[in-house]
Amino acid sequence: MQSIERTVGCGLVDSSFLNKSICLSGWVHRRRDHGGLLFIDLRDRSGIMQLVFNPDFNASAHLLAHSLRSEFVVSVRGTVVERLAGTVNKDMATGQFELQVQELLILNKAKALPFALEDGHIVEEELRLKYRYLDLRRPEVRKNFVLRHNIIFAMREALDKQGFYEIETPILTKNTPEGAREFLVPSRLHKGSVYAMPQSPQLYKQLLMAGGMEKYFQVARCFRDEDLRADRQPEFTQLDLEMSFINEIDIQNVIEKLLAFVLKKVMDIEVSLPIARMTYADAFVHYGNDKPDTRFELTIKDCTMLFASTELSFLKTVLASGGKVGCLHVDTHDFSRSELESWVGKAQKHGAKGLLWIRFGKDGKIESPVSKFLPEDFFVQAQRVMPALKEGGTLFLVAGAYKEAWEILGRLRLAFGQELGLIPAQQYNFLWVTDFPLFEYDEKEKRLDAVHHPFTAPQQGWENQNPVDMKARAYDIILNGIELGGGSIRIHQRDMQQKVFDLLGLTEQETQKKFGFLLEAQELGFPPHGGIALGLDRFIMLLAQVPSIRDVIAFPKTQRGYDLMMDAPTSIDNAQLRDYGLNLLPQKDA
Ligand code: AMO
Repeated sequence: MQSIERTVGCGLVDSSFLNKSICLSGWVHRRRDHGGLLFIDLRDRSGIMQLVFNPDFNASAHLLAHSLRSEFVVSVRGTVVERLAGTVNKDMATGQFELQVQELLILNKAKALPFALEDGHIVEEELRLKYRYLDLRRPEVRKNFVLRHNIIFAMREALDKQGFYEIETPILTKNTPEGAREFLVPSRLHKGSVYAMPQSPQLYKQLLMAGGMEKYFQVARCFRDEDLRADRQPEFTQLDLEMSFINEIDIQNVIEKLLAFVLKKVMDIEVSLPIARMTYADAFVHYGNDKPDTRFELTIKDCTMLFASTELSFLKTVLASGGKVGCLHVDTHDFSRSELESWVGKAQKHGAKGLLWIRFGKDGKIESPVSKFLPEDFFVQAQRVMPALKEGGTLFLVAGAYKEAWEILGRLRLAFGQELGLIPAQQYNFLWVTDFPLFEYDEKEKRLDAVHHPFTAPQQGWENQNPVDMKARAYDIILNGIELGGGSIRIHQRDMQQKVFDLLGLTEQETQKKFGFLLEAQELGFPPHGGIALGLDRFIMLLAQVPSIRDVIAFPKTQRGYDLMMDAPTSIDNAQLRDYGLNLLPQKDA
C-alpha cells in the first residue's frame, strides 16, 4: 500500500520549511472550494495548516481532493510556500504559509458528524459525552488534557525530588470508609462475597507506612457512589500521599512546596508561601462554611445583640429558642427596591425562610420593611457591631438556629460575591483550614460520625472532653472556596484506635471484622504517620477555569452517573447472575 510518512505536525510548519517538501497527516477541518482551487485546513493535535489543491500541481490529487469531507483522515505530500499578500492569517500560527499538495492519500473516510467541531460552537453536553472522542478532537477541549498532563507530570517530579515513592494500591478491596457509599464488585470465584472499590487508598497507604515506605504517593483512582455535582464524579483521581515520622506542618510544607513548584513550572504562577491558615471555628463564624472563599471580604457579622429587646415577633421567637441573627453588610452596591426584593427570593432558594434587609440612607435614615420596629438610633447601634457601616450601606439579615442561619448566610455571601462582581478573576487563593472537630453528631441516626475518617488522630486533651468538643489533627486545603484536599495525622496505636471506634458506636465484633488487620498492624510496630489527598480533577478544573470537573476528565459520567458513550451501567442477564451466584430483587423491591 502507498504510504506517506509524516515529517512534521500541521501546527509546527514555520519558515524553516519554506520551499521544502514535507508530509502532513491529520483530519480535514474545513474545506473551501474556489472553482479551480480547493483549500483544505488540515488539523492534527499541534494545530492547523492550509493545503491548496491545484490541478497544475497534480491533477489526480486535485480530483481526489474533491471527495474530501469534514473529518476525513488524510496524509499529504507537498511544498511549503508563502501565502500571497492579503491572504495571510495572523490568527493562525502557520497563517503565513500554505502547502501546495502534490500527493494525497485518504486514510479513512468519515460520515457526517453529529456536531461541528469548530471552537466556540456550542454543543449540548449529552451529545458531547456520547461522542466524547469527537469532542476531544476540539482544540479547546484538548487543551485541558494537555494542562492535566503537565500538572500531573510536574507533581510526580516535585514528589520524586522530595524523596517520595510512587506505589500503586488495589482497586478490588474492602470498604474504606470516607463517608460515601461504595461500589461493590461480585466475584465468580467467591460467590456471595463482594469486593469494594476504594473510596480512596486510605488504609493501604497507612499500611505502606507500616511497611516502612516512609514517603508514598500515588495518582490514585477513587470510587464513591454519591450524589453528583459539578465538582463530584463517581470515579475521580487524587494525588494521594502519606509520610511517617512527621507532624501536620511537615505535610503542609510538602504540599506548599509541591503547589509552588507545579504552578510556577506549568503556568508561571507564583504561589506566595506560606499559605494562609484559618481554624474551622473561625471559618464558620466568618464565612458560614468550612471552605471559605477568601478572594473577597464580606464576612458574616453576628448582630443578635442588636435585637435583644426587639418587638418583631419572628425575631423574638428565634432568640427565645437560643437562635442568632447574622448579617452581611454590603456597601459596594446601591440596590434598587426591586433588587432588594429579588434578594429575598434568592435567599429563599438558598434555604432561608426569609431575608430582612435594612438600608441606611442619608444621616443613617432607615429604609426597611420593618423600619417602624427598629429603634431610632439603630444606625449608631449597628455601627458598634460593624464599624465600617456607612450611609448607603445595606444589611441583609438571616435569623435562625446558629448552624443553619450561618450556612445560609455563607451561601448568600457567595451569591453576592458572584452577582455583584466582588470576586477577582485569575487569582489563585489557597487557604489551610485546621482544627476540625473530630466527630459530628448525626441527629437522624443518633450517633457520632467521624468528620474526616475514623483513622484521624484527636488533638491533645481529648481523653477528658465530650466527643463533640474533641478536635481532630486534620486539615483541608481550599482553593478559591473549593475543597481541594484534605488529610490528617493518623492514629497509630491500637488503644486510641479502639477508643475512637467505640465512640463511633462500633462493637468489638464489628471492628474486628472490618478493621482487624489494621488493629493488628498497630500492634506490630506501626510508626506515627499522616498524609493528605488532593482532588486532582478539581485542581485542574480550577486551573483551566472551566465550570465542571467533567471538562477535565477524558471520559466522564453524566450527573446521573451514566457513561453515555459506552452506555454503562448495563443490565445483567441470567447467565451472568448464575456465574456470580446472584439473585436480583424485583425492581419495585430494589
Ligand atoms: P477526602 O475524602 O477529603 O480525603 O478527599 C480528598 C479530596 O478528593 C476530592 N474529592 C472528589 N473529587 C471529585 N469527585 C468526588 N466525588 C470527590 N470526593 C472527594 C476533593 C477532596 O478534597 N483519604 C482521605 C485523604 C487523607 O486523609 O489523606 C480522603 O480521601 O478534592
